[in-house]
Amino acid sequence: MCGIVGYVGGRQAVPILYQGLSDLEYRGYDSCGIALLDGKGILTAKIAGRLSKLRELLKDLPPATTGIGHTRWATHGRPSQENAHPHVDCRHEIALVHNGIVENHRELREELISRGHTFTSETDTEVIVHLIEEAYDGDLASAVRKACRQLKGSFALAVISAKEPGRIVAFRQSSPLIVGLGEDEKILASDIPAVLSHTRKIAVLADGQCASITRYGLEVFDACGNLTDPDVRVVNADIDVAMKENFPHFMLKEIHEQPEALARVLSGRVKGGLPHFEPEEFRLSAEDVRKLQRIFIVACGTAYHASLTGKALFERLAGVSTEVDLASEFRYREPLVPSGSLVIAVSQSGETADTLAAMREARARGARVLAVTNSPVSSLAREAESVVYQRAGIEIAVASTKAYVTQVLCLALLAVHMGISTGHLALEEARKITSSLQKLPEQARKALKSEARVKEVASDVSRFEDVFFIGRGVDYHTAMEGQLKLKEISYIHAEAYAAGELKHGTLALIEQGTPVVAVLTDPSVAEKTASNVMEVKARGGRIISVTTPLTGGAFPPDPLDVEIQVPASYPLASPAVAVIPLQLLAYYAALQRGTDIDKPRNLAKSVTVE
Ligand code: F6R
Repeated sequence: MCGIVGYVGGRQAVPILYQGLSDLEYRGYDSCGIALLDGKGILTAKIAGRLSKLRELLKDLPPATTGIGHTRWATHGRPSQENAHPHVDCRHEIALVHNGIVENHRELREELISRGHTFTSETDTEVIVHLIEEAYDGDLASAVRKACRQLKGSFALAVISAKEPGRIVAFRQSSPLIVGLGEDEKILASDIPAVLSHTRKIAVLADGQCASITRYGLEVFDACGNLTDPDVRVVNADIDVAMKENFPHFMLKEIHEQPEALARVLSGRVKGGLPHFEPEEFRLSAEDVRKLQRIFIVACGTAYHASLTGKALFERLAGVSTEVDLASEFRYREPLVPSGSLVIAVSQSGETADTLAAMREARARGARVLAVTNSPVSSLAREAESVVYQRAGIEIAVASTKAYVTQVLCLALLAVHMGISTGHLALEEARKITSSLQKLPEQARKALKSEARVKEVASDVSRFEDVFFIGRGVDYHTAMEGQLKLKEISYIHAEAYAAGELKHGTLALIEQGTPVVAVLTDPSVAEKTASNVMEVKARGGRIISVTTPLTGGAFPPDPLDVEIQVPASYPLASPAVAVIPLQLLAYYAALQRGTDIDKPRNLAKSVTVE
């Protein structure tokens, strides 16, 4: 939930750390800081607030070629200078930054205080630096490993010691960490964007691994302290670069990237008119699929909304009973997982703590694991048996857009693929659906044409404090995603309802002029939704509808109503197209309200805490 960077090499560390932090600011942005080793000792600069505020302080730091930095999303202790990382030990000889949560920090803190340590922050993190201080006997890597053995929870750490200049020690447990391997420099980071401008060669640390990083060397130790070969990869240059280009916000840029992202999902994945997955993407044989008793999909937030559509796809196209769970609920509900089940974990980052835990829970109960993720270096990608990459390219804006549409399409391709194996889909039908799915990139491109119209509506919507979204079937899933987008970036209260459910209570909230966004793209239920729209209109609600040429005009228009048409796509995958005007609605409403669109308050891109 925080961003970590580290630099050791021949260049000045400060600008590289600063740039790295700004590339990772999407992970947390309520406080930040840097610690340097300048040959004489440790120097720190940290503040509550955004990185831009830190810039001033950095000017006063002396030159140094080793350092670590952190951008924080507060969990334990409010955002303040004292709670900002790096944290230092009692002797001011060790500095540390941390991403994750130390679950047993209270006990450890009491014990450390009783042994004479002085704490200067309210964080869970500070216990770690004092544990390392106690364990240090001249070898930082071994002290870090020793300290980590006492911790419960998730933690990615970067640590420096005044006694070991030119070295950074890193440890990873359930929070991501990579090391960029430059010619004569190393860049440690929580995520790829922070290393991309320096190198595309990276080592990915696995859980339990500790790395000792110097300008010319990288040593990786496994959980038992044995030296092990690092997992080195070269990052794809074409899709992993993230720059705002001419767009005012990453979110708008990413909305516009959706047609290309959808095309990338399909690239090489259709052969002979049917979905095709490489063996490492889908390790279940046709026989395995036929025997599948049940599919469980676990995900959070936007990925959960894509997964709801996944359920419709797997049940209708593959004929396999499918349950979708919010990952944070799944692990505590004692799920009945019949042997021979498949769990599909859907996660853009592949690092969401709840999704990882739910996936592990299902695996422990005997399920096979397939991941749909955007991150090839994530924990999810590493742990899953089969991995289908979303190929959305790096998504920087906290509000997810292109990750959502690529998740929907990945799940649709998987459903057709599995439907052929189960025999639920005849080949001819499977070919027809696949061909419809291949049209999604172009349909998304056309849906973007609604932008000017949506912008006008958004300026109206931005004046309201409550907005409702309705739809049926997959249109309801689109409505859910639309309301989440509006809430998270414009801070307007928004709620999505299954259209038929309104009359069971929510209609009481509809007043003269209340905006109600109605999604009607699925011809099989559009008329039913239209009846619910009429109920809203009868109570004064103002309708903003998203329709297609097949469903438009399903209810008599009112002068104040607005209809936004998107192309008619394959109905079960239509959220990938119908969501686009809703993403734009959220974007432009937020713009009107002057919020921080790419970094909305209280949120972070990658939620690595429970
Ligand atoms: C909303 C959003 C979040 C994420 C959720 C899961 O715009 O981005 O709701 O979808 O935190 O994240 P991943 O997909 O990384 O597991």
